Amino acid sequence: MPKVAVLPGDGIGPEVVAQAVRVLREATDGIEFEEALVGGAAYDAVGTPLPAETLDLCRKSDAILLGAVGGPKWDSLEPALRPEVGALLPLRSELNLYANLRPAKVFSALIDTSPVKFGPSGPIDLIVVRELTGGIYFGRPRERSPDGEKAIDTCVYTRTEIRRIAQRGFEIARQRDRRLTVVDKANVLETSRLWREVVAEVARDYEDVELDFMLVDNCAMQLVRDSGQFDVILTENMFGDILSDEAAQVTGSLGMLPSTSLSDSKGTSAFGMYEPAHGSAPDIAGQAVANPLATILSASMMLRYSLEMSAEADRVESAVESALLHGVRSRDLGGTATTADVADAVIRHLRS
Ligand code: IPM
Ligand code: MG
Repeated sequence: MPKVAVLPGDGIGPEVVAQAVRVLREATDGIEFEEALVGGAAYDAVGTPLPAETLDLCRKSDAILLGAVGGPKWDSLEPALRPEVGALLPLRSELNLYANLRPAKVFSALIDTSPVKFGPSGPIDLIVVRELTGGIYFGRPRERSPDGEKAIDTCVYTRTEIRRIAQRGFEIARQRDRRLTVVDKANVLETSRLWREVVAEVARDYEDVELDFMLVDNCAMQLVRDSGQFDVILTENMFGDILSDEAAQVTGSLGMLPSTSLSDSKGTSAFGMYEPAHGSAPDIAGQAVANPLATILSASMMLRYSLEMSAEADRVESAVESALLHGVRSRDLGGTATTADVADAVIRHLRS
């Protein structure tokens, strides 16, 4: 039986994770779930945002289901104790989860929810392939000068880091429309120029995939103007962070965007951490209004990419589609359904 580490975390994390676990239990014949502490919740309980037992459990599991970490309560702690820097980033780097996949696709029932009018290429249906363990998030030095007058962050990429994520991007493009757009700032940044060089080398093994390069400011604009033009967007860590939120909102709501962070693949599957891209949303925590669909869709990505259950993943995705077609809407989508109501609707469609 596959084993999944469940890390509910902070804010709305526990609320949305509980609903995704219900859906997973309904959709599969058996997954063993084991919970562990992470983030501010772990700091409050045991004094560290990423306890060693949590990391051990993750290493022993086939996949991780994460809610979200962070919140104002822990913002003034020193960096190593803050949920984002002390838990999320080390989870990514310790477990080598360098390939972050964020599909942004508008469900047909939600086309009118999008804040933008779709352009000549039609509705958005793309995936952001974001490098997740390098770049400015991890580069050293990262510090404040002793007098507090200067701060430094460093953006570093190696050929090896670029090559492995580029291969991932091309492989994903092959399973889709075979179009890959590399997004960078090559008119300014040396790391971007290295990206272009390495991607061009990798591209020789993927001549069936159409490759182009786009500057990040232009890409941000194109996502609003004509998001349907993109198939796979391959990009570095921070650009991927920013563009994936933008792409998510173009689909109607950040509450719909699933995410997986994968390590090297073994055959057809890979170890991965699955989480909604929306974060802990402390402003709405505890009110039962969070949209659980991003987490439910992340759980379905888990079935597909880590647990070799793609038929079950298809069923979860069509149940979400049907639930939306039948009108279930949480607050972010303009409705009044509670977090549990939305999951109930998905479960009803799974049964029918
Ligand atoms: C995300 C989040 C994180 C990131 C934060 C919470 C550190 O925004 O997963 O996109 O920037 O990677
Ligand atoms: Mg983000």
